[in-house]
Amino acid sequence: MDLPRSFTIRESGHRVLNPFTIEKLALLGQAISPSPGTRVLDLACGKGELLCTWARDHGVTGTGVDISTVFLDAARARAVELGVADRVGFVHGDASGHVSDDPVGIAACVGATWIGSGVPGTVGLLRRSLAPGGMMLIGEPYWRREPEDEATAKACGLSRADDLLSLPELLTRFGDLGCDVVEMVLADQDSWDRYAAAQWLNIRRWLDANPEDELADELRAELTTGPVRHARYQREYVGWGVFVLMDR
Ligand SMILES: C[S@@+](CC[C@H](N)C(=O)[O-])C[C@H]1O[C@@H](n2cnc3c(N)ncnc32)[C@H](O)[C@@H]1O
Repeated sequence: MDLPRSFTIRESGHRVLNPFTIEKLALLGQAISPSPGTRVLDLACGKGELLCTWARDHGVTGTGVDISTVFLDAARARAVELGVADRVGFVHGDASGHVSDDPVGIAACVGATWIGSGVPGTVGLLRRSLAPGGMMLIGEPYWRREPEDEATAKACGLSRADDLLSLPELLTRFGDLGCDVVEMVLADQDSWDRYAAAQWLNIRRWLDANPEDELADELRAELTTGPVRHARYQREYVGWGVFVLMDR
């Protein structure tokens, strides 16, 4: 089991694999300020930037789980680079059924709620690893601007307009699941660009180096249409944030 190669090409230069900057990740850490020694479980951890930087900045310990061997290699290298390899570990596997052996103070799924078939299932999954009084972190998109029609929703990369809620509706949904929303840090259009626009240069450099690769036509088409599509749709309509939840 591994992530399709096109993802690791697009996101080759990224540390955070979401429309969130390193600065926003640090802001989130400061906002919840975990005590040293807090155990963190990060499901679909990507390159492990949350775990590694929070281990450095706040002294947390923890485990990240991801299906991408390429991203996990990057996560392990980042842990060594930041001097936290003795405090964080990374496991290759499907996070959709992953429950921590020992309860954790923070259970996270940042930008991958499909592992729980949506927000309710992901909250249920994270709860199974959470110590009493712990925090859940959910990274999730929402409609920043309601799409006028289904074609606009599709152009934003969604199957249907109903796939996302507005921000107030998403916060209401968390409440309906029995959670207090105790913090949130939202992406903005600039942080969307750091995620989306940074992929264009990664793709262009990869195309220049690999013109005969079997993925070249697909990624060439993506680079040709991606910037205008991003500016017209995703950047304008789709918001994204990390929401910090505690059970009531
Ligand atoms: C949008 S990225 C977010 C990564 C990371 N949370 C971050 O913010 O940088 C989604 C991640 O989910 C991982 N992933 C997708 N399906 C998964 C699954 N079933 N189990 C574990 N990881 C999965 C991908 O490999 C990718 O690293």
